[in-house]
Amino acid sequence: MEGYGTTTYGELNVERYDAMYQESMQTETQACVEALAELAGGERVLELAIGTGRVALPLAALGLSVHGVEASIAMVAELRKKRGGDAIPVEIGDMAETSVEGTFDLVYIVFNTIFNLTTQEAQVRCFQNVSRHLKAGGLFVVETVVPDFSEYVDGQRMKGSWAEMHSARFEISIHDRIAQTVAFQRVVISDDSTEMVPHFMRYAWPSELDLMAQLAGLERRERWAWWDKSPFTTTSKSHVTVYAKSAT
Ligand SMILES: C[S@@+](CC[C@H](N)C(=O)[O-])C[C@H]1O[C@@H](n2cnc3c(N)ncnc32)[C@H](O)[C@@H]1O
Repeated sequence: MEGYGTTTYGELNVERYDAMYQESMQTETQACVEALAELAGGERVLELAIGTGRVALPLAALGLSVHGVEASIAMVAELRKKRGGDAIPVEIGDMAETSVEGTFDLVYIVFNTIFNLTTQEAQVRCFQNVSRHLKAGGLFVVETVVPDFSEYVDGQRMKGSWAEMHSARFEISIHDRIAQTVAFQRVVISDDSTEMVPHFMRYAWPSELDLMAQLAGLERRERWAWWDKSPFTTTSKSHVTVYAKSAT
């Protein structure tokens, strides 16, 4: 999607992000925070694409030293407004290459955000960047959906949310199965305006993520269907995968 860059998601979603996800995802966030705290092992942890701190703030409240990388200055400004948000060091930049001082016991990326890197090459570089930031024996946790195109017809999906007398809302997604990308547009039309929120992502199958990890010197240790450690099966819609850097 021409013009869609690393800061686009944050710029377009910052105003609605917390309203959309902070409340509605409370149970998921709590399960995620508990699992990450258990995995952390040490106290220095790094969140890639930290956003407005949905996960980082409760994790820091447990006593962990949480750091972040984030492309969007606007998203970080929201984090800074929250209690404890000022105490979290954040490097502004692209998570595929941004360096943070020191090494970490745990690096994590949640909520499908690895797919915000829109090329395979950027995703590979991100795994390598993570590996550089892990201590020996450190863990990298990735949470994402398992891609599912069962609702797509001819590489497209259209979903309506409402159709009223003077407005309608719908979402259109276009799938490129060679590049493994989905171009998405959420449209709200009313008598006097049109609002559009685009999103562009590059998905990877779990096996491809494992290969990226291997290229970066990381080995898969666990794969669960969700934060509750439920077994990952062929029908799982998501996965939480734990990669480890060799202890030597
Ligand atoms: C779905 S939000 C997730 C935010 C937070 N991790 C959470 O779980 O609530 C995606 C975040 O990724 C950030 N982002 C997108 N591309 C990025 C990149 N290349 N490098 C760093 N951050 C990026 C966006 O600005 C946004 O804050």
